[in-house]
Amino acid sequence: MINRTDSLSSEAISGLQGTCFVVGDKSISHRSLMFSSIAEGTTRISGLLQSTDVHSTLNAMRDLGVRISIVEDDVVEVIGVGMHGLQEPARPLYLGNAGTGVRLLMGMIAGQNITATFTGDESLSSRPMRRITEPLSQMGIQVSDNGDGLLPVTVTGRTNPLPIRYNSPVASAQIKSAILLAGLNARGVTSVIEPAKSRDHTERMLQHFGVEVYTQTNLYGGYIASVTGGVTLQANDVIVPRDPSSAAFLIVAGLITKNSHLLLPTIGMSPERIGLITTLREMGGRIEISNQREVGGEQVADIKVSSSQLKGIVIPSDRAPSMIDEYPILCIAAAMATGPTLMKNIGELRHKEADRIAIMAKGLRLAGITVDETETSMRVYGAKTAKGDSYIKGGFNISSEHDHRIAMSFLTLGFVSSDRIIVDGVSTIETSFPGFVELMNKHGARISTINSA
Ligand code: S3P
Repeated sequence: MINRTDSLSSEAISGLQGTCFVVGDKSISHRSLMFSSIAEGTTRISGLLQSTDVHSTLNAMRDLGVRISIVEDDVVEVIGVGMHGLQEPARPLYLGNAGTGVRLLMGMIAGQNITATFTGDESLSSRPMRRITEPLSQMGIQVSDNGDGLLPVTVTGRTNPLPIRYNSPVASAQIKSAILLAGLNARGVTSVIEPAKSRDHTERMLQHFGVEVYTQTNLYGGYIASVTGGVTLQANDVIVPRDPSSAAFLIVAGLITKNSHLLLPTIGMSPERIGLITTLREMGGRIEISNQREVGGEQVADIKVSSSQLKGIVIPSDRAPSMIDEYPILCIAAAMATGPTLMKNIGELRHKEADRIAIMAKGLRLAGITVDETETSMRVYGAKTAKGDSYIKGGFNISSEHDHRIAMSFLTLGFVSSDRIIVDGVSTIETSFPGFVELMNKHGARISTINSA
């Protein structure tokens, strides 16, 4: 466990080897806790990610009157309270750093006859909530904030929200999921139209719990998901696959370091989550996928990664939704490639746990990498020469700015830098990847704690 005040330093290594078991999927873990809470009956969830973000959701569900017991390390049992059984919480629901937790829960509360106030940490409190509260208002839900569209937000639900057909301006699974969850109790059909399909874990898990979800793609790449209100969810055990977004750090680390061979078993392979793998392969990354199969309604596979010479590419704009969380670590791969890598249509990165374009650009420049940025794009000029040499300057400190993926990305860059890289504010790694440091070090990394105490 990393302490709040700790910093981590990462040094050059001679390679990463072995079979690495990555943690459970964060998106699916949040959903499994929430959906089983409003199901009829008891659901056993195996492989649940035991991270601070997921615990924020777990605690919120308990504050809403749901009984959840931890059976083993990553196995929990949830006794569902049914579609109208959540109780009004006695205190504000504190969701910590969890964007998925807070936004999906707002949608869930919208269909309940209760009032809940949502709060979060400094990072979550600066993230836009109108993208959720506006469509919920259209559904007749009473929502209030301090006039700034930020937390704290209070939602007063009703048992019969108005069904809507919502044209989402962005491809966002959080927006889509919040509206569909509110729609479960609406009188009629609620539809969300996305400009491109975002991750569909909500649609899949609702189906797993016995709810029909109608989906359609249109000729222009747009996507529609609809639910009919008045349904009930039936408890059904969930097996959580390993998180492709966490695996991403090991994949890139294996590619950019010399003499590396890593095997990552049972990684989630949802097509809406694996844009990074497609991209890294186009860059020349040696990534083999085998043993593809379905586990609990989600596709999984084993991934093999070996050291590779990467080259810069232009990443198609329409790939952004399928790798939206992976741009920070892709920046590290791009820094270790020959030539520039252009990332377009990534304006959403400015609204994640931190402004990921600004902070990645800042850190890469400290490492001696040239970066161009616009409001919605980045171009990273790789440090590798045609002869295969590269020079990444280390010897600097960078703050994670409460963003786990920024922290893990710069620690990964430390594996190939001339001098160590120190990342401050690393307790944020616990939000998605507890055990990251131990796992990396077990397979050959040299990450050490700099204790501030
Ligand atoms: C998530 C959706 C994405 C992603 C986030 C998890 C989810 O956010 O960035 O880490 O679980 O639904 P957006 O929906 O805002 O793109």
